[in-house]
Amino acid sequence: MTNTQQGQSAPKTESSELDGTGKTVFDGIYTAPDPRPYCETMQALDYAIPKHAQPMFSELFQNYREQSGKQSVRVLDLGSSYGINAALLQFDLELPELFQRYTSPEAQALSTIELMQRDRDDYSNQPAQQTVDMVGFDISAPALQYAQDVGLIVDAVQANLETDEVTTAQSEQLRNINCIISSGCIGYVTTITLEKIIDACAPYLPWMGHCVLRMFSLQQLTTLLQARGYEVEISPELVPQRRFASSEEQEQVVSRLFEMGIDPTGFEDQGWLYAWLITAKPTTLEPDYTMTN
Ligand SMILES: C[S@@+](CC[C@H](N)C(=O)[O-])C[C@H]1O[C@@H](n2cnc3c(N)ncnc32)[C@H](O)[C@@H]1O
Repeated sequence: MTNTQQGQSAPKTESSELDGTGKTVFDGIYTAPDPRPYCETMQALDYAIPKHAQPMFSELFQNYREQSGKQSVRVLDLGSSYGINAALLQFDLELPELFQRYTSPEAQALSTIELMQRDRDDYSNQPAQQTVDMVGFDISAPALQYAQDVGLIVDAVQANLETDEVTTAQSEQLRNINCIISSGCIGYVTTITLEKIIDACAPYLPWMGHCVLRMFSLQQLTTLLQARGYEVEISPELVPQRRFASSEEQEQVVSRLFEMGIDPTGFEDQGWLYAWLITAKPTTLEPDYTMTN
Protein backbone atom coordinates (compact mmCIF):
# COMPACT_ATOMS: atom_id res chain seq x y z
CA MET A 1 0.00 0.00 0.00
CA THR A 2 1.43 3.40 -0.88
CA ASN A 3 1.10 6.41 1.37
CA THR A 4 -1.03 8.15 -1.28
CA GLN A 5 -3.49 5.24 -1.29
CA GLN A 6 -3.58 5.31 2.47
CA GLY A 7 -4.46 9.01 2.51
CA GLN A 8 -3.60 11.60 5.09
CA SER A 9 -6.80 12.33 6.96
CA ALA A 10 -7.22 11.29 10.59
CA PRO A 11 -10.75 10.05 11.28
CA LYS A 12 -12.15 10.94 14.69
CA THR A 13 -12.99 8.19 17.16
CA GLU A 14 -15.15 8.58 20.23
CA SER A 15 -12.04 8.77 22.38
CA SER A 16 -9.71 11.71 21.97
CA GLU A 17 -7.89 11.10 25.24
CA LEU A 18 -4.18 10.37 24.80
CA ASP A 19 -2.04 8.25 27.11
CA GLY A 20 1.47 9.07 28.35
CA THR A 21 3.03 7.83 25.09
CA GLY A 22 0.80 10.05 22.91
CA LYS A 23 -1.45 7.20 21.72
CA THR A 24 -5.24 7.31 21.93
CA VAL A 25 -6.78 5.59 24.95
CA PHE A 26 -9.02 2.70 23.83
CA ASP A 27 -9.75 1.17 27.25
CA GLY A 28 -13.56 1.08 26.76
CA ILE A 29 -13.46 -1.02 23.61
CA TYR A 30 -10.89 -3.45 25.06
CA THR A 31 -13.19 -4.45 27.93
CA ALA A 32 -16.65 -4.61 26.32
CA PRO A 33 -18.47 -7.97 26.72
CA ASP A 34 -18.08 -8.77 23.01
CA PRO A 35 -15.87 -7.73 20.06
CA ARG A 36 -18.32 -5.38 18.34
CA PRO A 37 -17.08 -2.04 19.77
CA TYR A 38 -13.44 -3.10 19.21
CA CYS A 39 -14.05 -4.13 15.61
CA GLU A 40 -16.13 -1.03 14.81
CA THR A 41 -13.43 1.33 16.06
CA MET A 42 -10.54 -0.57 14.51
CA GLN A 43 -12.33 -0.95 11.19
CA ALA A 44 -12.91 2.84 11.10
CA LEU A 45 -9.18 3.37 11.68
CA ASP A 46 -8.22 0.85 8.95
CA TYR A 47 -6.41 -1.20 11.61
CA ALA A 48 -4.24 -3.57 9.58
CA ILE A 49 -1.40 -4.91 11.70
CA PRO A 50 -2.82 -8.42 12.36
CA LYS A 51 -3.16 -8.83 8.58
CA HIS A 52 0.49 -7.87 7.97
CA ALA A 53 1.63 -10.10 10.82
CA GLN A 54 -0.10 -13.33 9.68
CA PRO A 55 2.57 -14.46 7.16
CA MET A 56 5.33 -13.82 9.73
CA PHE A 57 3.46 -15.78 12.41
CA SER A 58 2.64 -18.71 10.12
CA GLU A 59 6.23 -18.88 8.88
CA LEU A 60 7.50 -18.82 12.47
CA PHE A 61 5.23 -21.74 13.43
CA GLN A 62 6.22 -23.66 10.32
CA ASN A 63 9.94 -23.17 11.04
CA TYR A 64 9.31 -24.22 14.64
CA ARG A 65 7.49 -27.36 13.49
CA GLU A 66 10.34 -28.28 11.13
CA GLN A 67 13.04 -27.68 13.77
CA SER A 68 11.21 -29.40 16.63
CA GLY A 69 9.50 -32.20 14.72
CA LYS A 70 6.21 -31.32 16.44
CA GLN A 71 3.02 -30.82 14.47
CA SER A 72 1.01 -29.02 17.10
CA VAL A 73 2.28 -25.64 18.29
CA ARG A 74 1.12 -24.04 21.55
CA VAL A 75 1.12 -20.28 21.01
CA LEU A 76 0.82 -17.49 23.59
CA ASP A 77 -0.76 -14.39 22.03
CA LEU A 78 0.19 -11.29 24.07
CA GLY A 79 -2.65 -8.76 24.12
CA SER A 80 -4.86 -11.34 22.47
CA SER A 81 -8.04 -9.32 23.00
CA TYR A 82 -11.12 -11.12 21.58
CA GLY A 83 -8.94 -13.65 19.73
CA ILE A 84 -8.27 -11.66 16.55
CA ASN A 85 -4.98 -13.41 15.72
CA ALA A 86 -6.42 -16.75 16.84
CA ALA A 87 -9.27 -16.42 14.32
CA LEU A 88 -7.04 -15.32 11.44
CA LEU A 89 -4.44 -18.00 12.10
CA GLN A 90 -6.86 -20.89 12.45
CA PHE A 91 -9.51 -20.15 9.86
CA ASP A 92 -9.82 -19.12 6.24
CA LEU A 93 -10.63 -15.53 7.22
CA GLU A 94 -9.13 -12.18 6.23
CA LEU A 95 -9.12 -9.22 8.65
CA PRO A 96 -11.70 -7.09 6.72
CA GLU A 97 -14.03 -10.10 6.68
CA LEU A 98 -13.48 -10.63 10.41
CA PHE A 99 -14.33 -6.99 11.15
CA GLN A 100 -17.41 -7.32 8.94
CA ARG A 101 -18.59 -10.30 11.02
CA TYR A 102 -18.96 -7.94 13.97
CA THR A 103 -19.96 -4.66 12.32
CA SER A 104 -22.65 -5.87 9.89
CA PRO A 105 -26.28 -4.91 10.59
CA GLU A 106 -26.98 -8.63 11.23
CA ALA A 107 -24.30 -8.77 13.93
CA GLN A 108 -25.44 -5.48 15.44
CA ALA A 109 -28.95 -6.87 15.85
CA LEU A 110 -27.82 -9.77 18.08
CA SER A 111 -27.45 -9.84 21.85
CA THR A 112 -24.03 -10.76 23.24
CA ILE A 113 -25.30 -14.26 24.05
CA GLU A 114 -26.65 -14.69 20.50
CA LEU A 115 -23.41 -13.39 19.00
CA MET A 116 -21.44 -15.85 21.12
CA GLN A 117 -23.65 -18.72 20.04
CA ARG A 118 -23.26 -17.72 16.38
CA ASP A 119 -19.46 -17.58 16.74
CA ARG A 120 -19.28 -20.86 18.63
CA ASP A 121 -21.26 -22.57 15.85
CA ASP A 122 -19.34 -20.92 13.01
CA TYR A 123 -15.87 -21.53 14.43
CA SER A 124 -16.56 -25.12 15.41
CA ASN A 125 -17.85 -25.83 11.88
CA GLN A 126 -14.89 -24.31 10.05
CA PRO A 127 -11.91 -26.50 9.17
CA ALA A 128 -8.72 -25.30 10.89
CA GLN A 129 -6.03 -24.06 8.49
CA GLN A 130 -3.19 -25.19 10.73
CA THR A 131 -2.72 -26.96 14.05
CA VAL A 132 -2.16 -24.32 16.68
CA ASP A 133 -3.32 -24.28 20.30
CA MET A 134 -3.85 -20.60 20.95
CA VAL A 135 -3.46 -19.37 24.53
CA GLY A 136 -4.74 -15.83 25.13
CA PHE A 137 -2.87 -13.39 27.36
CA ASP A 138 -4.53 -10.08 28.18
CA ILE A 139 -5.34 -7.67 30.98
CA SER A 140 -8.98 -7.71 29.84
CA ALA A 141 -11.04 -10.46 31.47
CA PRO A 142 -14.14 -9.91 29.24
CA ALA A 143 -12.10 -10.14 26.02
CA LEU A 144 -10.41 -13.36 27.15
CA GLN A 145 -13.71 -14.78 28.33
CA TYR A 146 -15.32 -14.15 24.94
CA ALA A 147 -12.42 -15.69 23.00
CA GLN A 148 -12.44 -18.77 25.22
CA ASP A 149 -16.24 -19.15 25.23
CA VAL A 150 -16.42 -19.17 21.43
CA GLY A 151 -13.53 -21.64 21.15
CA LEU A 152 -10.86 -19.39 19.61
CA ILE A 153 -8.41 -19.97 22.45
CA VAL A 154 -7.78 -23.11 24.49
CA ASP A 155 -6.61 -21.27 27.61
CA ALA A 156 -6.57 -17.72 28.95
CA VAL A 157 -4.01 -15.94 31.11
CA GLN A 158 -5.53 -12.82 32.59
CA ALA A 159 -2.67 -10.70 33.89
CA ASN A 160 -0.98 -7.34 34.10
CA LEU A 161 2.65 -8.32 34.50
CA GLU A 162 3.72 -4.71 34.12
CA THR A 163 2.74 -4.34 37.78
CA ASP A 164 2.07 -7.84 39.13
CA GLU A 165 4.18 -10.95 39.59
CA VAL A 166 3.43 -14.25 37.84
CA THR A 167 1.24 -16.39 40.08
CA THR A 168 1.76 -20.13 40.54
CA ALA A 169 -1.33 -20.84 38.44
CA GLN A 170 -0.13 -18.54 35.63
CA SER A 171 3.31 -20.08 35.78
CA GLU A 172 1.70 -23.47 35.18
CA GLN A 173 -0.23 -22.05 32.20
CA LEU A 174 2.98 -20.64 30.68
CA ARG A 175 5.02 -23.81 31.13
CA ASN A 176 4.46 -25.51 27.79
CA ILE A 177 4.38 -22.54 25.44
CA ASN A 178 6.29 -23.11 22.17
CA CYS A 179 5.84 -19.71 20.49
CA ILE A 180 4.88 -16.20 21.63
CA ILE A 181 3.31 -13.65 19.29
CA SER A 182 1.86 -10.14 19.56
CA SER A 183 0.20 -7.54 17.38
CA GLY A 184 -0.69 -4.08 18.67
CA CYS A 185 0.40 -4.96 22.21
CA ILE A 186 4.04 -3.93 22.66
CA GLY A 187 3.89 -0.52 24.30
CA TYR A 188 1.09 -1.61 26.60
CA VAL A 189 3.38 -4.42 27.60
CA THR A 190 7.10 -3.77 27.82
CA THR A 191 10.22 -5.78 28.50
CA ILE A 192 8.99 -5.99 32.12
CA THR A 193 6.16 -8.35 31.07
CA LEU A 194 8.26 -10.15 28.49
CA GLU A 195 11.07 -10.88 30.94
CA LYS A 196 8.63 -12.36 33.48
CA ILE A 197 7.15 -14.58 30.77
CA ILE A 198 10.59 -15.72 29.62
CA ASP A 199 11.41 -16.57 33.25
CA ALA A 200 8.17 -18.53 33.62
CA CYS A 201 8.90 -20.53 30.44
CA ALA A 202 12.51 -21.34 31.45
CA PRO A 203 14.48 -23.46 30.68
CA TYR A 204 12.70 -23.42 27.32
CA LEU A 205 12.89 -20.38 25.07
CA PRO A 206 9.67 -19.99 23.06
CA TRP A 207 10.14 -18.69 19.53
CA MET A 208 8.72 -15.20 19.08
CA GLY A 209 7.13 -12.91 16.51
CA HIS A 210 6.14 -9.35 17.47
CA CYS A 211 4.88 -6.22 15.76
CA VAL A 212 6.50 -3.18 17.34
CA LEU A 213 5.39 0.37 16.60
CA ARG A 214 8.48 2.42 15.91
CA MET A 215 7.39 4.94 18.55
CA PHE A 216 8.48 2.26 21.08
CA SER A 217 12.10 1.35 21.74
CA LEU A 218 13.20 -1.58 19.61
CA GLN A 219 16.60 -1.35 21.25
CA GLN A 220 15.27 -2.23 24.71
CA LEU A 221 13.43 -5.26 23.34
CA THR A 222 16.32 -6.59 21.25
CA THR A 223 18.78 -6.07 24.12
CA LEU A 224 16.58 -8.17 26.44
CA LEU A 225 16.04 -10.90 23.86
CA GLN A 226 19.72 -11.16 22.92
CA ALA A 227 20.72 -11.24 26.59
CA ARG A 228 18.27 -14.10 27.15
CA GLY A 229 19.70 -16.21 24.31
CA TYR A 230 17.74 -15.13 21.24
CA GLU A 231 18.81 -14.25 17.74
CA VAL A 232 16.64 -11.32 16.63
CA GLU A 233 15.64 -10.51 13.07
CA ILE A 234 13.96 -7.24 12.11
CA SER A 235 11.90 -6.98 8.91
CA PRO A 236 13.58 -4.81 6.28
CA GLU A 237 10.39 -2.80 5.76
CA LEU A 238 7.95 -1.00 8.03
CA VAL A 239 4.28 -2.02 7.90
CA PRO A 240 1.28 0.29 8.47
CA GLN A 241 -0.60 -0.39 11.73
CA ARG A 242 -3.60 2.00 11.55
CA ARG A 243 -4.60 5.56 10.85
CA PHE A 244 -4.12 8.10 13.60
CA ALA A 245 -7.36 8.53 15.53
CA SER A 246 -6.97 12.32 15.68
CA SER A 247 -4.63 15.07 14.56
CA GLU A 248 -3.64 15.47 18.24
CA GLU A 249 -2.49 11.85 18.36
CA GLN A 250 -0.52 12.31 15.15
CA GLU A 251 1.20 15.45 16.49
CA GLN A 252 2.15 13.72 19.75
CA VAL A 253 3.51 10.62 18.05
CA VAL A 254 5.41 12.58 15.40
CA SER A 255 7.03 14.76 18.03
CA ARG A 256 7.92 11.65 20.10
CA LEU A 257 9.57 10.13 17.02
CA PHE A 258 11.65 13.28 16.45
CA GLU A 259 12.73 13.13 20.10
CA MET A 260 13.79 9.50 19.54
CA GLY A 261 15.84 10.60 16.52
CA ILE A 262 13.46 8.92 14.04
CA ASP A 263 12.42 10.78 10.89
CA PRO A 264 8.65 10.32 10.27
CA THR A 265 8.83 11.72 6.72
CA GLY A 266 6.91 9.54 4.28
CA PHE A 267 5.47 7.44 7.10
CA GLU A 268 3.79 8.79 10.27
CA ASP A 269 3.57 12.30 8.76
CA GLN A 270 1.26 10.73 6.14
CA GLY A 271 -1.39 9.87 8.74
CA TRP A 272 -0.51 6.29 9.72
CA LEU A 273 1.30 4.58 12.60
CA TYR A 274 4.06 2.22 11.41
CA ALA A 275 5.54 -0.90 12.96
CA TRP A 276 8.51 -3.22 12.58
CA LEU A 277 7.95 -6.98 12.40
CA ILE A 278 10.48 -8.84 14.49
CA THR A 279 11.20 -12.51 15.03
CA ALA A 280 13.33 -14.01 17.78
CA LYS A 281 14.61 -17.58 17.80
CA PRO A 282 16.77 -19.22 20.46
CA THR A 283 20.41 -19.45 19.45
CA THR A 284 20.63 -22.81 21.21
CA LEU A 285 17.82 -25.00 19.97
CA GLU A 286 18.38 -28.26 21.84
CA PRO A 287 16.33 -27.66 25.04
CA ASP A 288 13.15 -26.99 23.06
CA TYR A 289 13.37 -30.36 21.29
CA THR A 290 13.12 -32.20 24.57
CA MET A 291 9.74 -30.70 25.44
CA THR A 292 7.05 -33.28 25.82
CA ASN A 293 3.92 -31.27 24.98
C1 LIG B 1 -4.63 -2.88 20.17
S1 LIG B 1 -5.22 -4.21 21.12
C2 LIG B 1 -4.53 -5.51 20.14
C3 LIG B 1 -5.44 -6.69 20.06
C4 LIG B 1 -5.06 -7.75 19.05
N1 LIG B 1 -3.76 -8.31 19.33
C5 LIG B 1 -5.12 -7.19 17.66
O1 LIG B 1 -4.08 -6.98 17.04
O2 LIG B 1 -6.23 -6.96 17.17
C6 LIG B 1 -4.17 -4.22 22.57
C7 LIG B 1 -4.52 -5.28 23.62
O3 LIG B 1 -3.54 -5.22 24.67
C8 LIG B 1 -4.21 -5.44 25.89
N2 LIG B 1 -3.40 -4.91 27.00
C9 LIG B 1 -3.26 -3.65 27.41
N3 LIG B 1 -2.44 -3.58 28.48
C10 LIG B 1 -2.05 -4.85 28.76
C11 LIG B 1 -1.21 -5.44 29.75
N4 LIG B 1 -0.58 -4.71 30.66
N5 LIG B 1 -1.05 -6.78 29.73
C12 LIG B 1 -1.68 -7.55 28.81
N6 LIG B 1 -2.48 -7.04 27.85
C13 LIG B 1 -2.67 -5.71 27.81
C14 LIG B 1 -5.55 -4.73 25.73
O4 LIG B 1 -6.51 -5.17 26.68
C15 LIG B 1 -5.88 -5.07 24.28
O5 LIG B 1 -6.63 -6.27 24.22
